Amino acid sequence: MKHATLRQLKVFEAVARNLSFTRAAEELHLTQPTVSIQLKQLGDIVGLPLLEQIGKRIHLTDAGCELLVVCRNIFEGLSRFEMLVSDMKGVKSGKLRLAVITTAKYFIPRLLGPFCERYPGIDVSLKVTNRERILQRMADNEDDLYILGQPPENVDIRAEPFLENPLVVLAPRSHPLAGVKNIPLPRLAQEPFLMREPGSGTRLATERFFAEHGLSLKVRMELGSNEAIKQAVAGGLGVAVLSAHTMALERAGGELVFLDVEGFPIRRHWYVASPRDKQPSVVALAFLEFLRGEGKVMGERYLQDIPGFPTLSRRKKPGKR
Ligand code: PGA
Repeated sequence: MKHATLRQLKVFEAVARNLSFTRAAEELHLTQPTVSIQLKQLGDIVGLPLLEQIGKRIHLTDAGCELLVVCRNIFEGLSRFEMLVSDMKGVKSGKLRLAVITTAKYFIPRLLGPFCERYPGIDVSLKVTNRERILQRMADNEDDLYILGQPPENVDIRAEPFLENPLVVLAPRSHPLAGVKNIPLPRLAQEPFLMREPGSGTRLATERFFAEHGLSLKVRMELGSNEAIKQAVAGGLGVAVLSAHTMALERAGGELVFLDVEGFPIRRHWYVASPRDKQPSVVALAFLEFLRGEGKVMGERYLQDIPGFPTLSRRKKPGKR
C-alpha cells in the first residue's frame, strides 16, 4: 500500500460512501473516467477487487469494506491534525459533523447560529435522522458527535445528558379530553394513536412506558416524521406522544394541545454522545463546551417558551423514563 496515493484513497472513499461513480465524480469535481482510472490503479495495488457491480448497483467487496475503515481513520487523523495546528495558531477551525435525532432538529440549528458566530472558522454539517440510523452512523464512524434521546446499552460510548427532552401527549384542541385534569392512563390508551416509524426512539420510549403500566396501544397509523404526526393529530386522526420540543414553533392558542395525563410528561433527556475509543477533535471539544454552557441556558429558556408546556410540566409528577 506504500504506493497508494492520498488522492486514490480519497476517490475510493467517495465512491464507497456514495456507492456511485457519478456522485463521487461530482463531489470531487472530477470526470468519471478519472475516477475509474484512480480506482483501477488502487485495485491493482491492493491486488484484489474493491468494488463489484451487480446489475446497476455497486457493492463493496470484503477488501473494499476494510479499506473504507482504513480511509476513514486516515482522513480523520489528518483533519484532527489540521484542527490541532490551527488551534496552536490561536484559531479554531475545521469541520464539525453532527448527527442529531429528529426531535433535536428544532433546537440544535438554533444553537448553531451563536456557535458559528463565536467560531467563524468552524464549518458545521448537520444530519437529522431517527435513532436507529444514528446508531448505524455511529457504528460506521460517520460523525464527530451524536445527539440522541437514549444512549444505547450495548455500545461502548461516552454520553452526557445536556437538556430535558420531555415526551407529552398531543391532541387536537377540539378533543373531548382537552382540558380534563389528570386523565387516567388506561383512559388514554383507549384513544387511537399515531405512532412514529419502527426504529424511532420516541416510539420505543412510548411503547416501553405503556408496557410498564401493563397497557398496549391502539395504533391507528404509522408516520415517518414528527411534523406529519402533528398534522394528522390536528386533522383528528388520533392522539400522539411526541417530544415537547416538536411544539416549539407552535403559537399559543393553535390547533394542538397537551393532554394532562397521569405519568406525563415522560421525563427524558438528550444526550451528546460519541464512541468511547474516538478521540474528540478540537472543534468537537469546542462544541461540547458550548453545549454545556450557553447550550444549556438557551435550551432551558426554549422549553419554557413552548406554549402551555411550563404549566403542564409543573403540575405533573414525572413518569419513570
Ligand atoms: P427519534 O428519537 O427521532 O428516533 O424518535 C427521538 C428520541 O429518541 O428522543
